[in-house]
Amino acid sequence: MRLLVLGAAAGGGAPQWNCRCSVCARAWSGDAEVVPRTQASIAVSLDGERWTLIDCAPEVLAQIQRNPELHPRGPRHSPIEAVVLTGGDIDHIAGLLSLREGTPFTLYASGELQRTLADNRVFDVLRPDVVTRTALGLDASLALPGGLEARVFAVPGKAALYQPDEGEGIGAEGETTVGVEFRHAGRRLYYVPGCARLSPALAERLEGADVVLFDGTLWRDDELIREGLGHKTGARMGHLSMSGPDGSIAALAPLGIRRKVFVHINNSNPVLIEHSAERREAERAGWEIAFDGMQIVL
Ligand code: MLT
Ligand code: MN
Ligand code: ZN
Repeated sequence: MRLLVLGAAAGGGAPQWNCRCSVCARAWSGDAEVVPRTQASIAVSLDGERWTLIDCAPEVLAQIQRNPELHPRGPRHSPIEAVVLTGGDIDHIAGLLSLREGTPFTLYASGELQRTLADNRVFDVLRPDVVTRTALGLDASLALPGGLEARVFAVPGKAALYQPDEGEGIGAEGETTVGVEFRHAGRRLYYVPGCARLSPALAERLEGADVVLFDGTLWRDDELIREGLGHKTGARMGHLSMSGPDGSIAALAPLGIRRKVFVHINNSNPVLIEHSAERREAERAGWEIAFDGMQIVL
């Protein structure tokens, strides 16, 4: 199984269009210590020919352009045969609008996320005779193009920012925010780009995994407030931060995961600065910081 990290940043990307925080400032100035990243999405394949995107970021066209595996092989062709969604936020879904030129694929999402798309008329550009929309049951096994075995599962999460109930039910587990499990040759890989807390069920699932790509939005829960970038804590945003006794580094430490990778990293997060104290601390704890173009073979 091959996995390409198409984008490793959280919503907004890094640097973000309207931000000159201490991390973005370095990226804008071309400092090699902060490599720009597009919004979070990965591509997976068993054979390198038939690919599935997990989430579809606003930058999907640039992501396809940068990854030869995803280039068309002939006139009106794409190796992208499916898209699986893990949430309804803009960074997960906006790229779908760029996949509208008449090449078929299957769009997999939980029933709730399918309803969200159906409620937004602009997604009707993905015509039903071209794009098949399949509602995924939680924990049901799914054969992705090429036969890759996957399933989606509930993750403690949060409604998308544009939903009227956005601030309610943060950390609830259901169809709003999901992770994706891949199984291949007796090994397990997980993609969990958004997670509000490590519930016992999620901890049990991730235990002993071969690879986990996990929500790396914030380093500190109050990072946006301290940096003067916003008024929300990580907890309010539905993102478990990395550091501290209640952070994800500590929470996932006892789970015996072979390879741990942070994805969906917000532009305010100092782990984006190579050689920063925070980057070193995360790496010392056994974590890798994903970047656009990272490849994982399982
Ligand atoms: C989030 O995960 O909270 C989103 O990336 C927010 C956003 O869309 O900006
Ligand atoms: Mn997001
Ligand atoms: Zn910034």
